[in-house]
Amino acid sequence: MPRKLEIKDLDANFFTLLNDRWALLTAADGEGCNPMTVSWGGTGILWGKPVATVYVRPQRYTKGLMDREEYFSLSFLPEDRHDVVALCGSKSGRDVDKVKECGLTVLKDEKVPYFAEAELTLICRKVYQQDLKGECFTDPEVDGKNYPKKDYHRMYIGEIVAALRG
Ligand SMILES: Cc1cc2nc3c(=O)[nH]c(=O)nc-3n(C[C@H](O)[C@H](O)[C@H](O)COP(=O)(O)O)c2cc1C
Repeated sequence: MPRKLEIKDLDANFFTLLNDRWALLTAADGEGCNPMTVSWGGTGILWGKPVATVYVRPQRYTKGLMDREEYFSLSFLPEDRHDVVALCGSKSGRDVDKVKECGLTVLKDEKVPYFAEAELTLICRKVYQQDLKGECFTDPEVDGKNYPKKDYHRMYIGEIVAALRG
């Protein structure tokens, strides 16, 4: 079983973890769950709380789950399970049961599912959500390059309520 870490003892480099390793973003989907790969996001301090921020485009199946659920988890799998994060970033929960297809073992905090295979998991309680807006870009090149279809991400900020080391 993963063991709980003090958040102040987290020594992970989230720049390299997110950018190179990628993460599985998961919110409950009824009794099941649907992991979606993310590589954009971050961790920090906001409103005096340790927080994780993720960004989800409107067309993702995961967006409905993120909107509805109070909790989400971010799971970082070991390097040799890159096949799993690649699959969860290329198939939609609308079409396939990704947990089954990847052979993932779901563990359940009472609030949110996460995975036994993860080396590190952040359990987050949603605090804030807001769509990015075209008119708020101070650099129009970033807007044009990332949102030609105007499908702006919704930003979700969650308080990190637990960190688990697998
Ligand atoms: C490396 C990688 C990173 C990704 N990061 C994000 C992200 O931060 N936000 C997002 O909305 N989609 C991101 N995606 C795309 C989703 O993971 C992908 O569309 C997925 O199939 C959506 O699953 P769902 O429909 O089950 O939610 C990423 C995909 C990959 C391969």
